Amino acid sequence: MLSKIGLIGGGYIGGVLAQEIAQRGLAREVGLVDPAPFVNPKDPPDRQEVTKKQSVSIGKTLDISEGLPTIRRDVRLVGSKDYSAIKGAELIINTAGVPRKARPDGSYPSREELLATNLRVTGQVAEGIKQNCPDAIIISIANPLDAIVYTLDKRLGPSKNKLMGMAGQLDSGRYCYFVADAADVSVENVSALVLGGHGDTMVPVRSSCLIAGIPVSKFVDDDTLKSIETRTRKAGGEVVGLLGFGSAFVSPAWAALEMAEAIIHDKRKILPVCAKLDGEYGVDGLFVGVPAILGRNGMEKVIELDLTAEEKKAFEHSVAAVRKTCDEVDEMLEKL
Ligand code: LAC
Repeated sequence: MLSKIGLIGGGYIGGVLAQEIAQRGLAREVGLVDPAPFVNPKDPPDRQEVTKKQSVSIGKTLDISEGLPTIRRDVRLVGSKDYSAIKGAELIINTAGVPRKARPDGSYPSREELLATNLRVTGQVAEGIKQNCPDAIIISIANPLDAIVYTLDKRLGPSKNKLMGMAGQLDSGRYCYFVADAADVSVENVSALVLGGHGDTMVPVRSSCLIAGIPVSKFVDDDTLKSIETRTRKAGGEVVGLLGFGSAFVSPAWAALEMAEAIIHDKRKILPVCAKLDGEYGVDGLFVGVPAILGRNGMEKVIELDLTAEEKKAFEHSVAAVRKTCDEVDEMLEKL
């Protein structure tokens, strides 16, 4: 058990994280920070007063705390509108960012506008971590995943083991779920890795996909696997389309906790992790989804796989997409 886990962002994923950390007893204390709500100056004064009192982080931590006697868990939860909530955290999970949603006039922000907003938010996240828990291990979930982890690295410059992104565990979970469904077997029997960036170029590695240790091709035909792999690449968008808001939130939170538990319990577990590469896979200075050992020190070691020629090409294509986004980030960060 850690003494403290800090959660940045009190949205849907942050809420599930706080709840699960309490339930699983992963830390003695959980701090949840979410900014004060926007007070619209056009609202009547009494409405503005109501908004000023609102705090999703204090509300969510209070709700969970009031349930603790029932589930018999002794965890201290603190919520706040500023970064003081994460003071002294040993592990940070970051979900802070703005999702792509319609403005009141019905128009959508462009991808660049959204990226610029989220880079600004990430600047505040980095500052909050620097001031309150500079030595924490950081798992970042916020999107666009590859760009945000890259930005945190630029802003904080932590050692390579201390900063990582969560994407591959979620994407691999989706791949495994679809395969289990098609093969009509237990999800517990399926293992697979999805590597590369967390976008349409991600690489479901078919050669890693096994059902009870047996190659997946024994159970699922080629065409079905191809459509599963396409669905996996677009699975985040599929959920958003169905929900009509935000993003998937339970599976991403569970995926991040799979990583957190490997670290907290020093499991030395191999999981797909968005890790900084310094020459591994022929990539230098970018964060890309690869298998890595997670243990007490965070991301302890990147594992280099022997990919098939086709998988290698797909991985390189995905790395090129990540590089393009990071070049965009470099340009934007200069202007911010
Ligand atoms: C997704 C978001 C959480 O893939 O990245 O659903």
